[in-house]
Amino acid sequence: MTLAPARPASAFRRFHRMRRTAALRGLVQETRLDPRSLLLPIFVDARAQEPAPIAPLPGHVRWPASRAPEIAERAAAAGVGGLLLFGLPDEKDDGHAAADPLGPVPSALRAIRARVPGLALVADVCLCEYTTHGHCGILRADGAVDNDATLPLLADAALAYADAGADVIAPSDMMDGRVGAIRGALDRAGRPETAILSYAAKFASAFYGPFREAADCAPQRGDRSGYQMDPPNAREALAEIAADVDEGADAVMVKPAGPYLDVIAAARARFDVPVAAYQVSGEYAALHAAAERGWIDLRRAALESLTAIARAGATTIVTYFALDAAEWLA
Ligand code: PBG
Repeated sequence: MTLAPARPASAFRRFHRMRRTAALRGLVQETRLDPRSLLLPIFVDARAQEPAPIAPLPGHVRWPASRAPEIAERAAAAGVGGLLLFGLPDEKDDGHAAADPLGPVPSALRAIRARVPGLALVADVCLCEYTTHGHCGILRADGAVDNDATLPLLADAALAYADAGADVIAPSDMMDGRVGAIRGALDRAGRPETAILSYAAKFASAFYGPFREAADCAPQRGDRSGYQMDPPNAREALAEIAADVDEGADAVMVKPAGPYLDVIAAARARFDVPVAAYQVSGEYAALHAAAERGWIDLRRAALESLTAIARAGATTIVTYFALDAAEWLA
C-alpha cells in the first residue's frame, strides 16, 4: 500500500483555487465598500440661481441653498451616509462671512433638515471660501496667517452651522488649536451633542486644484504650506492626529486619501477614534480625465481606489464618487 504524500508534489501554494469563481472570491473578500460609509461633498453657492456645473468636477454642480434638498434626496435614496457641505458666500470679506447664519451653508442645512431626514449632515469649517485673499485664516499685516486670531472666527462659524442643524463640524483650516476652540464654543453654547470630525492630517497637496475652482478659494498670493502639512511627513501626521484627539475630536481625517494610504493605515493602528479619508477633487478629476481618453475604465478604477482607501483603514470616505459608487454597489 502506498501512502499519499503529506503534501502535494508541487512545492507551491495554489492561490488560484479560491479565485476561480465570483462566489468563491466573495467568500474570501476582506474589504467591502458600503454606501453608508460614504460622504458626498456638495457646494452651496449664495450667488447661484440654478445648479451650475463645475467643469473640473464632472457631474457636480454649485447648488443654490434652496435647491440643496434635491441632491440630499438623491443621496438618501442611494443609501449614501451623508453630505459634506461647502459654501460660497455672496460677498467675501476678512473671513467673518463664514459665520453668517443666513450664509449658504446654514441656509442649505436648514432646508435639507426640514425635507430630508436620515442623512448625516457634516459642515466643513474653513475661512478660505470666505476671505478675499483665499487663505484659510485671518492675515497679519506681514501677509502670514494669524493662527490665534483665526480661532474665534472658526468657532463662530462652527456654532452657526451647529445651530442650523449640522450633526458634525469638520474643520479643514489646519489652524493649531482649532478643535479645542470649537469644542469649547459648542459646549458653552449648549451643543455638547454636536460632533467634530477634524481634518487632522491635511497635507499641502497639488490634488486640491479642481476644488479651488469649485469653491473659488485659491490663495491670491503664496500657498498653504505654512499651515497645511508637508507631504513627506507621516510621523508628524500622527502627532497632528494625537493633538486633535486630545482637544476633543470625535473622528479624524487624512487628506488626500490615495497618495496617503500609509498615513491612513498608521492612524488606524494607533488611534481608537474613527478614521476618515478624503478622496479629493484632483484624485476624482484625474480618474475622470483618464477615463474620458479611454485610458482606464472609470467604474473599475473608481471602485478600486475606494476599496484601497477602505483597505488601508478608513471607516468613512469622503468622495465625489459617492452617488456613482452607491449605484455601482447596489
Ligand atoms: C479648504 C479645503 C480644501 C479642500 C477641502 N477644504 C482646499 C484647500 O485646502 O486648498 C479640498 C478638497 C478637495 O480637493 O476635494 N477649506
